[in-house]
Amino acid sequence: MKVLAILGSPRPSKSNTGIILQEFLKGASSQGANIETVYLKEKIINFCIGCNTCWMETPGVCIFRDDMPELLDKVIECDILVYATPLYNYNMTSLLKCFLERLHPLVDAHLVKTGETYRHPQRYAKGRKMVLISTCGLPEVSHFEGLRQIFCQIERSSQMPLIGELLVPAAELLKKKSLQEKIGVILQAAYRAGIEVVSEGKISKKVEGQIQKSPLTPDEVAEMTNKWWDSHIKRNGR
Ligand SMILES: Cc1cc2nc3c(=O)[nH]c(=O)nc-3n(C[C@H](O)[C@H](O)[C@H](O)COP(=O)(O)O)c2cc1C
Repeated sequence: MKVLAILGSPRPSKSNTGIILQEFLKGASSQGANIETVYLKEKIINFCIGCNTCWMETPGVCIFRDDMPELLDKVIECDILVYATPLYNYNMTSLLKCFLERLHPLVDAHLVKTGETYRHPQRYAKGRKMVLISTCGLPEVSHFEGLRQIFCQIERSSQMPLIGELLVPAAELLKKKSLQEKIGVILQAAYRAGIEVVSEGKISKKVEGQIQKSPLTPDEVAEMTNKWWDSHIKRNGR
């Protein structure tokens, strides 16, 4: 089983999302999965200009010869596609959004009806599945609602089942040494999620719940965060 992870954090070396992703991948790897991570920050990916050449002139082939054609091959070959992104403005980062737009060549132009609505079929449908991993700064899990809705739409239109969501609020706590014991529970759950994806084909609600559970209450997170900012904000800006 091939697991391809796409990390959309613009700071991959100190990424909170990357911390969760790596535990997840370790779990998947422990079950024999072949894992690979693509760090979008390190890739050259032009944004889609909507020319539709990949739908009309050269079906399946984009006009841009940047890093994306190689990544499209990886997407086509994988069994599990893991989208890992920090929450930016209640959404995915622009790095990941740009990547998703460039998946256009993998989609066929025709409209097909599935249930009540129309969609574009995938050129290379092969039972690929998706996992969503996201972290955010605010302390409540409700902030992920917009992102979750988007991935539900992607699931419907691509017919690629979303087999689990690992959502971590108050993710700056992941690096707090004083909370290591409680953070350990979250990391173990991420590892377990990786095991489940390979061995059971989906992440259990129990594990998803363990990952979402912040080690501190929202009020405690706010107090700690505000103190941190007060001691770090310099007075020479606007
Ligand atoms: C430009 C920007 C926008 C952000 N938007 C949100 C947001 O809408 N909601 C939120 O809770 N956190 C927001 N955050 C905080 C990040 O989601 C959070 O710090 C995340 O864990 C960073 O992940 P990374 O370390 O993997 O890059 C934002 C951070 C930045 C820099």
